[in-house]
Amino acid sequence: MIAIYPGSFDPPTNGHLDLIQRGAKIFDELVVAILRNPEKTALFTVDERLEMLRECTGQWKNVHAEAFDGLLVDFARNRGAQAVLRGIRAVSDYEYELQMAWMNRKLDSTLETVFMMPAADYSYLSSRLVREIASLGGALAGFIPPSVESKLRARLGVKFHSHR
Ligand code: PNS
Repeated sequence: MIAIYPGSFDPPTNGHLDLIQRGAKIFDELVVAILRNPEKTALFTVDERLEMLRECTGQWKNVHAEAFDGLLVDFARNRGAQAVLRGIRAVSDYEYELQMAWMNRKLDSTLETVFMMPAADYSYLSSRLVREIASLGGALAGFIPPSVESKLRARLGVKFHSHR
């Protein structure tokens, strides 16, 4: 079974990697799919995010990263995927996720959405908070892979505190 794990991944976090690891265990193939979204101004380009994801997911042979545009259901159909994987952290994620899952089901009733929860340690983690903490010079150890941290540091040009 092939699953798509779609998102913005700006930048990828340890929460994303936790979910990828869980997804890679239950699906034969997992396609991590970065949305090319011209409306959203991102910190990293799609190519930069692809490179970061490829670097961080190399250990899982059944995982690969790609970019997509257009409808997720169309991309899933093109890839021969039967499922979409999404992570749910707190109850606050649920409404947005349910709306997307229902809409995607309306658009393609054969595509299933599968929700998984990350490790509790990552339940309050988001790319948005990582960007904010990074821009204010806060410590990010444990939240993002070291390779992503150095790219963030380079992009924002701020020194991180080493204490936690
Ligand atoms: O990480 P995000 O930003 O929460 O991911 C949102 C994403 C990429 C899953 C969603 O915006 C998406 O699937 N966009 C593709 C366009 C589409 O299919 N829209 C209808 C979704 S119901």
